[in-house]
Amino acid sequence: MKPEELFHKIYQSAKRLNFQIYVVGGYVRDKLLGKQVKDIDFVVVGDAMKFADALKEDLHLRTVVRYPRFGTFMARYYGYQLEFVNAREESYQKNSRKPVTKQADLFSDLSRRDFTINTLAMDISPERFGEIIDIYNGRKDLQDGIIRTPLDPVKTFSDDPLRMLRAIRFAAQLDFTIEEKTFAAIQANAHRLSIISQERITDEFNKILMTEKPSKGLKLLDESGLLNVFFPELTRLKGVEQRKGFHHKDVFYHTLEVVDNVAAKGADLKLRLAALLHDIGKPATKRFDEQAGWTFHGHEVVGQRMAKKILKRFKYSNDIIQYVCKLVGLHLRPMALVGEEVTDSAIRRLIFLAGDDLDDLMTLCKADITSKIPSKVKRYLQNYDYVLKRINEVEERDRLRNFQPPVDGNEIMQRFGLKPGPQVGKIKKFILEAILNGDVPNEHDACLDYILKHKDELLSDGGNREKKNG
Ligand code: CTP
Repeated sequence: MKPEELFHKIYQSAKRLNFQIYVVGGYVRDKLLGKQVKDIDFVVVGDAMKFADALKEDLHLRTVVRYPRFGTFMARYYGYQLEFVNAREESYQKNSRKPVTKQADLFSDLSRRDFTINTLAMDISPERFGEIIDIYNGRKDLQDGIIRTPLDPVKTFSDDPLRMLRAIRFAAQLDFTIEEKTFAAIQANAHRLSIISQERITDEFNKILMTEKPSKGLKLLDESGLLNVFFPELTRLKGVEQRKGFHHKDVFYHTLEVVDNVAAKGADLKLRLAALLHDIGKPATKRFDEQAGWTFHGHEVVGQRMAKKILKRFKYSNDIIQYVCKLVGLHLRPMALVGEEVTDSAIRRLIFLAGDDLDDLMTLCKADITSKIPSKVKRYLQNYDYVLKRINEVEERDRLRNFQPPVDGNEIMQRFGLKPGPQVGKIKKFILEAILNGDVPNEHDACLDYILKHKDELLSDGGNREKKNG
């Protein structure tokens, strides 16, 4: 269904109740930017709950989801996600995000919105269809690429501190500039973000990470002081120290480059997070060595632990947490595999540990090369090509990605006369180690022969061997 037809139907329902209705917010903004979106927000001047009843009847909607306390309701219709809100004036208590809602007219509703580019409304009456209502010069800001609050920014941000993060998200997504007074108000009020729920913060943060060049948003987050409120571990990566002619690179800016590099390769959210966190353990492991200069030994292990804690706090899913921790923990491995003397066994171990995420790990490692010296970059890339070649050779032979034990638990129990228990796991591990070491090929018959040959040794410590006669 075309939006015009949809708007006409909705307008007719509103007219039946004698309510005014307008399209507002993101839809109008994106339409003027030449983008068609299926999420549409409406402002109803009248009782939105009554309008929900009328619309349900007129459009034969199966369900409408109502939030009477907030004067809003939502519905789906022909692939559109529709949200209706009472024209409202909100006031917020100082330490809470819960608004006290009062009925108001369209203009005061628009004034309580976050940015001028989001205060645009569109008339959908047949007489003035498509006319834009623009009381805060939102259209000009949209043309000039400016993020600015309609009212005094301090007021707009104290109504909902998440808007400070939204300002940066919009600037990053649209490649806009945040107007000076608006930005100064973010800097002055950044600490107030602490009253916002982590879910809302993470949602905006994800949108910033998913932009074309995430470093833009991340730098703004840092400069505004917001990053330090919700992600202090990242701001701690900043700074360069110099001692006895040695200096290390600024890990924060290096990290931003790595995130941009994976983004340029079309990375999904979890790979961008891995890039963001790959060096998070560096500040905690930084030491100065008289001979070698600055070292960060073990930063991948410390980083893995920190990543887990941070991602949990951000409420990411367990899948994402596991994936990111795996990549952070392994990000130095491929580089360590450069060199003729590296054994197939080391390569096999990496393939086994990285599993399905090996390609992403290699993308991250290549993105990690941020040297500005072309000869160095060339050498590093050649090194990775060499590692990749060896990985491919070993993989073709040993098929270790998605490793499945060639002799399964049932067969082990049957052949060894064992009941389920730790002994079975021990034998499985014995097989895996033998394959990784290259002592036996990754094949059923060979592995079975191998463990039968080592049967006595494997059973020597008693375990839970099944008693043959009762
Ligand atoms: N809004 C606001 N303050 C917020 C959130 C939203 O003033 N903290 C207003 C804005 O006018 C916004 C509208 O509510 O345009 C709809 O919000 P939302 O759907 O979150 O954002 P969109 O502008 O539609 O942008 P996007 O779809 O990219 O999130």
